Amino acid sequence: MSHNAIALSLEEPSAVTLGSSRFVRACLRQPVDRTPVWFLRQAGRYMPEYMAVRKHHSLLDICRTPEIAAEVTITAAERLGVDAAIIFADLLLPFTPMGLDFEFVAGEGPIVHTPVRSLEQVRALRTDRADELNYVARSIEKVAAHFAGPRADGDVLGIIGFCGAPFTLASYMIEVGSSRNYIETNKLMYSDGVAWSLLMDKLVSVLVTFAQQQVEVGADVIQIFDSWAGALSVADYRQYCLAWTKQLVGRVKEMGVPVIYFGVDTASLLSTMRETGADVIGLDWRVPLDLGWKAVGEGCGVQGNLDPITLFAPEDVLQRRVREVLDEAAGRQGHIFNLGHGIVPGTPVENVIRVVELVKEHGRHE
Ligand code: CP3
Repeated sequence: MSHNAIALSLEEPSAVTLGSSRFVRACLRQPVDRTPVWFLRQAGRYMPEYMAVRKHHSLLDICRTPEIAAEVTITAAERLGVDAAIIFADLLLPFTPMGLDFEFVAGEGPIVHTPVRSLEQVRALRTDRADELNYVARSIEKVAAHFAGPRADGDVLGIIGFCGAPFTLASYMIEVGSSRNYIETNKLMYSDGVAWSLLMDKLVSVLVTFAQQQVEVGADVIQIFDSWAGALSVADYRQYCLAWTKQLVGRVKEMGVPVIYFGVDTASLLSTMRETGADVIGLDWRVPLDLGWKAVGEGCGVQGNLDPITLFAPEDVLQRRVREVLDEAAGRQGHIFNLGHGIVPGTPVENVIRVVELVKEHGRHE
């Protein structure tokens, strides 16, 4: 278990104050000296250091080689000066031990060759090989060792492990590639309750093991990506998604780490997403942070939510937008500064660094 995870044990509440990073403390809505900041997709194609590695290795090679995945993770966190490092991996990695082949096609994203659309295919998915995902834990181990000590400002960097949420992963299994309308996913959901339940059960089972591997070696927090849950109506989210996501969140929390639950286009779903029991809800940029937090409700943190395209804007706009997000958070405990979704390719690195500086300047708490 990580230093921070140990500090979270209920028997030692005071250790949390002494031992945790400001990032973990914010996840638990504890007081911090300033708002912590990190970015979705902080290690990615916008960054020349990442592209230099990508020249020689495929995305999956990077994910599956702990030395390289750790290096990419560390380089991004140090270059940007953020308060947390998210492990370099991908949402779809659990598909391989489940017996589902996929590949990343340049410019198109992930493609599953034989989409899962029948009960028979769901039955064939395996849940007994999740230990094969252990290379992600090996990467985390290296990142945790690198960031074990305090940084120059005395704070310990937070280490984020992650996995997909059952709905978003199911949608990648069922559609051929990235989808807009999730027609096939909805067809299975509506027409074959047995197949849908079994698929969601199997995903939760694999994801719990995957998260456990990450927590055991030093992930301080687990972020659960439900990137495409926003495609669902509230009623469908409630009927086909919530129970399994709640189960996953609950099981991860039992491991002794806070959970951040993130989705895109979720303004209408926020209060229902809160019912999963996550410690922090990630907001996209479409909802003003204060309104989003109101919808999430008291007693839960929020992460976000600068529009990633703001990173292309000139200094005055950048300053104004960063301050707006901080003003909307109003110094409340439990805010983690981030973008509303991932950094896009072509984003100037210096603007990303500038946002970190602005948060450090304007996000101080008394
Ligand atoms: O720095 C980090 O954020 C850590 C690394 C990370 C990757 N994928 C590496 C990656 C993380 C956290 C993910 C999560 C992920 N993967 C999500 C959820 C996040 C979100 O955006 O909502 C999703 C939906 C996936 C599946 C996936 N992987 C897609 C749809 C794509 C293609 C998108 C694109 O921009 O082309 C990927 C590829 C991918 N995963 C890249 C990276 C850095 C870019 C492609 C590359 O390097 O070749």
